Amino acid sequence: MWKDWIRPFVRPLPQWSTVAIAPPSQAVTATLRWDGKLVDVTADHTVAALKPLVIATSVDAGPHPVLEYYDSATGRWLGILHLVRMAPVVTENTSLALYHVAAGEHRCLGWPRRPWNAWLQNRLMLKHQAPHHLAMEPAAVQQLMIAYLCPRPVVLVSVGTPGHQNIFPMDLIGPLERSGYFSLALRSTNVSQPIMRDVRRVALSNVPAAMKATVYKLSEHHKQPLPDWNALPFPVRPSREFGVPAVAGALSIQELSIVHSQEIGSHTFFLCRVMSDEQLVKGEQLHHTPGFYQAYRRRWGMPFAEV
Ligand SMILES: Cc1cc2nc3c(=O)[nH]c(=O)nc-3n(C[C@H](O)[C@H](O)[C@H](O)COP(=O)(O)O)c2cc1C
Repeated sequence: MWKDWIRPFVRPLPQWSTVAIAPPSQAVTATLRWDGKLVDVTADHTVAALKPLVIATSVDAGPHPVLEYYDSATGRWLGILHLVRMAPVVTENTSLALYHVAAGEHRCLGWPRRPWNAWLQNRLMLKHQAPHHLAMEPAAVQQLMIAYLCPRPVVLVSVGTPGHQNIFPMDLIGPLERSGYFSLALRSTNVSQPIMRDVRRVALSNVPAAMKATVYKLSEHHKQPLPDWNALPFPVRPSREFGVPAVAGALSIQELSIVHSQEIGSHTFFLCRVMSDEQLVKGEQLHHTPGFYQAYRRRWGMPFAEV
C-alpha cells in the first residue's frame, strides 16, 4: 500500500511503545565506560529525575563517562548517553553517583530516517506542550528515550496509612545492584509524595501486560488519593510484611523500605531496601521502550509483543 510507504516520511514513530516482556528483560545491556574501564550497569542504573535528566548508579565512573546500550541478540551498538557527574547521594555510609545527561544519540534508525524522525517528534512535542505539564526540552526527551533502550518495567505503587491510601503507576524505578538499593523517581507534585517521605514504606505490584488500560487509568492518582481500596476495578491482597494492599493478580509484589529521599529538580528520588519479594506467577509484564527501538527490532524480525 502506498500509504504504508509514505507514513514514515510524514508521521513520527511513537515516542514510547508499550510492550509485553517476561521479567527480567535481557534484550539490551548497558555499560558505563570511562578511562579505558568498562562496567556492566544493566541492573545498576536508573533515572533519578527528568528535569534536569539525571541518571543514578552505584558505580563512580569519573567525571565524564558514557553510558552505552547494546542489543543482546544482534550485539550491535544502539545508543549512547554522555554523562557529567553531579554531587553524590550519601546515605547509610554509602555514596551513590548521580550523572546529568549532557548529550545522547542512537543508531536504531538509519540515515536519513533518524534525524527526520527526531525532527518530526520534536515538532509534535513543541506543538502539544501544555503549560501546566512538566515541559522537558525535546532534546532531553530524545535522551530519555535512549535511557529506555533497556525496556523499563511498569509497576503499581501502593501507599497505605490510616489517613491516606493510594495506588499509581511508575516506571522511573529499578535496582542499583551493587549498592543493594532500589530507587524510585517520583514527581514532587505527586499527592502521596509527602506521605511516602513520612511512612517510609511502599509495596510494588509488578503487573501483567494485559492490565495496561487499568494501569494507565490509575495515573490520575498521581494527583488525587484513592478514596477507598474497594473502588479499584481489581482485587487487592495485603503485602506480606507491611500489609499494604497490592494487586492480587500481580506477577510479583515487592515491599520497599525507604531509607533516604531527596529532591532532585522536578522529582523526589527515593532510595529503598527491598524487604520482601513475593514471586506469585510467571508471565509477561508491561514495559516501556522507545518507538525507535521497537522499529529496530521489527527490522531485525524480532519485535516485542505490543499491548
Ligand atoms: C505507565 C505510567 C508510568 C508513570 N511513571 C511515573 C514515574 O515513574 N514517576 C512519576 O513521577 N510519574 C510517573 N507517571 C505519571 C505521569 O508521568 C504524570 O506525572 C501524571 O500522569 C500526571 O500528569 P501531569 O501532571 O503531567 O498532567 C507515570 C504514568 C504512567 C501512565
